[in-house]
Amino acid sequence: MMSLAWPLLRITEQAALAAFPQTGCGDKNKIDGLAVTAMRKAMNTVAMQGRVVIGEGEIDRAPMLYIGEAVGTGSGPTVDIAVDPIEGTRMVAMGQSNALAVMAFAPQGSLFHAPDMYMKKLVVNQRARGVIDLTQPLDENLRRVANALGKPLESLRMVTLDKPRMHAAIAQAKQLGVKVFALPDGDVAASVLTCQHDNTFDLMYTIGGAPEGVISACAVTALGGDMQAELIDFSEAKGNTPTCREIARNERRRCASMGVEINRIYTLNELVKHHDVLFCATGVTDGELLKGVHEHQGRVKTQTLLINGADRTCNIIDSLHGW
Ligand code: FBP
Repeated sequence: MMSLAWPLLRITEQAALAAFPQTGCGDKNKIDGLAVTAMRKAMNTVAMQGRVVIGEGEIDRAPMLYIGEAVGTGSGPTVDIAVDPIEGTRMVAMGQSNALAVMAFAPQGSLFHAPDMYMKKLVVNQRARGVIDLTQPLDENLRRVANALGKPLESLRMVTLDKPRMHAAIAQAKQLGVKVFALPDGDVAASVLTCQHDNTFDLMYTIGGAPEGVISACAVTALGGDMQAELIDFSEAKGNTPTCREIARNERRRCASMGVEINRIYTLNELVKHHDVLFCATGVTDGELLKGVHEHQGRVKTQTLLINGADRTCNIIDSLHGW
């Protein structure tokens, strides 16, 4: 994987550079389309036999970076790819902070292969590794993490997404005295911020996208943290309407064809079977994890976080483009 670190950095940089000029344009799809095209173009110059295992969705709905798409030049290492060209398209569209261009590489056959659907995720850093259990209710997990960290519940910091489906969990955590940080979007950054050595948060608990979950699992693996996840069908995440139930039926069929199960708890080593992973994120808009793209007098700067599981290194790379 090591030989792919530099090319990977260039791929997420290209996606961020393509999306950035549209910051504040209000059109999520346009932003996503530009980033996807730039990412795919950059990826196809890399000497690898890559396969998107989780990404932009199904072949009939996503023209590029769909699940199963082969990418790369077709020679070189065989690689599983989890991709989210822009993690936080809404944030870029609305001119808000914390958007990233992000992807992860791992040896072939090692990444969780699932549809683009909802996933419940619980992430902790290495000091609480081994204590989480998604079969148990949230309050039990909060107590276990607090206990492992040797702090009272009142000092525990939980990060989540501020979505209606999370409101009951947010209320429950607050009732126990836990400090809750509810972000509008972006659970990949939240997961990394939980696992970093000087962690901003003690745990990340949310229901978000499965691609974001698998990408996060690569960072969690490399950073030595812990994670559990559960695929959630559309009606459980969004409501019990006929349309949601229909989407959920399709998800169930697709999961069965891919050999994964809804409402089964997956552990970190089922999500990512190898430590030799690369995680890469380039900031699009300024955020807690990374600076976004900055332009000054024709020079463009990017900042990228590259995490390498094989040698357990994190590099923050500032690049200057197009002088
Ligand atoms: P995208 O920009 O890729 O859609 O992701 C933003 C995000 O907030 C993710 O961090 C999260 O996993 C997912 O959306 C949640 O989905 P939804 O916006 O449907 O609630």
